[in-house]
Amino acid sequence: MQKEFLEVKDLYRNKEEYAGKTVKVAGWIRTSRMSKNFGFIELNDGSFFKNMQIVLDEKLDNFKEIGKLPISSSILVEGELVLTEGSKQPVEIHATNIVVEGESDSSYPLQKKRHTMEYLRTIAHLRPRSNTFSAVFRVRSLAAYAIHKFFQDRNFVYAHSPIITGSDCEGAGEMFRITTLDLENPPKTEDGKIDYSQDFFGKEANLTVSGQLNAEIMALAFRNVYTFGPTFRAENSYTGRHASEFWMIEPEIVFADLEDNMELAEDMIKYVINYVMENAPEEMQFFNNFIDKGLLERLNNVVNSDFIRITYTKAVELLIESGHKFEYPVEWGCDLQTEHERYLTEEIYKAPVFVTDYPKDIKAFYMRMNEDGKTVRAMDLLVPGVGEIVGGSQREEREDVLLARMEEMGLNKEDYWWYLELRKYGTATHSGFGLGFERIIMYMTGMSNIRDVIPFPRTPKNAEF
Ligand code: 4AD
Repeated sequence: MQKEFLEVKDLYRNKEEYAGKTVKVAGWIRTSRMSKNFGFIELNDGSFFKNMQIVLDEKLDNFKEIGKLPISSSILVEGELVLTEGSKQPVEIHATNIVVEGESDSSYPLQKKRHTMEYLRTIAHLRPRSNTFSAVFRVRSLAAYAIHKFFQDRNFVYAHSPIITGSDCEGAGEMFRITTLDLENPPKTEDGKIDYSQDFFGKEANLTVSGQLNAEIMALAFRNVYTFGPTFRAENSYTGRHASEFWMIEPEIVFADLEDNMELAEDMIKYVINYVMENAPEEMQFFNNFIDKGLLERLNNVVNSDFIRITYTKAVELLIESGHKFEYPVEWGCDLQTEHERYLTEEIYKAPVFVTDYPKDIKAFYMRMNEDGKTVRAMDLLVPGVGEIVGGSQREEREDVLLARMEEMGLNKEDYWWYLELRKYGTATHSGFGLGFERIIMYMTGMSNIRDVIPFPRTPKNAEF
């Protein structure tokens, strides 16, 4: 059945080819304006951001019925494609036959007026039909494809890391526990703790916070790999940048240091932005007009200039020198807060900034120790408007240094025996990073809340739909 109905996108893009011909389309009524003997319907068929204008008149035997259809009714239209150069839309269809597929109830909530993002979140089952969300979710889809294409074109292997895991990659204790034990009456060990050896996996199991450790395993066989999948964090933060379930892209590259890592991140981000601007011009123009004025100019600057690279120590100096009053005062050793990150990218540089070589005490156990014994070869990429979008590092490839660091951090080396063996059997310089998929979508669309770039967001107290 579907083949009978052409895509509106195809009709727009190849309008000369279809001009004057009879075509069929199927879609939902976005708006209609009817007078006594003729009318206009804006039809959206889902294939394209733009609507197809349907022109109808009383020659249709069901003209009156069609005129009364509520917004969001679905119809099947047959008619002639007419070029309308110079008017608001370049084409329209003069209908010769319209069949009602599904009449909508007139209580349909997305009437033609502006709705708040908060309200639209409460109707996540309908919001993909609004202009904003139609644009966001198509960009999200294209960006995912661009990411795969970028890596596949460079011969990276797509490594599938597990969603259920027995290890905590980040050591931050922000994991969702999975258990089949009866928690009202759990088995206990001699010292009174819950006995997870009797649980489904024979040990504590959680939803993964990062696929990095698995990516390292795969990279040390394939040289260059990437993961791209959902990750989970039980952070109880109600910010507009944190979700409990988000997607992460984690490349891992071998015989490669932090410089290579930053170059890869920069190339990938530029590639994805370019791809989306080229393949979703209508959507990007919409964001530029209605969500974030100046977005396109900013993105064009980003893809055409080098990202800034500074050390953490330099960043702290700059923030102190700025004399700006921050809510959290800055001193060497502190974790950079969103306000600091934004000041660096929005006030000082007005561009994306890599910050490298953070104090070891605020970073994870696997990052390579620098000669000074105080900092590690870490890098975060900060961008205006969003803050951190990438976190990565060169990995500690020296078994003895890694072991010492794990001990210092109180990690149980038995839990990471396989990770340590990677350093024993042909260790190699390697590096990688994690790009928060939602964060780059926010950056490219100008959307300011992470809940509005995920079709069905999972955040504290929110798992509807
Ligand atoms: O800096 P993070 O915690 O790094 C890691 O997980 C490393 N294992 C990655 C690696 O080296 N392979 O997270 C990486 C990125 C952040 O920069 C951010 O963009 C995103 O993941 N992120 C989140 N995005 C949405 N909601 C959250 N709660 C996020 N936490 C991290």
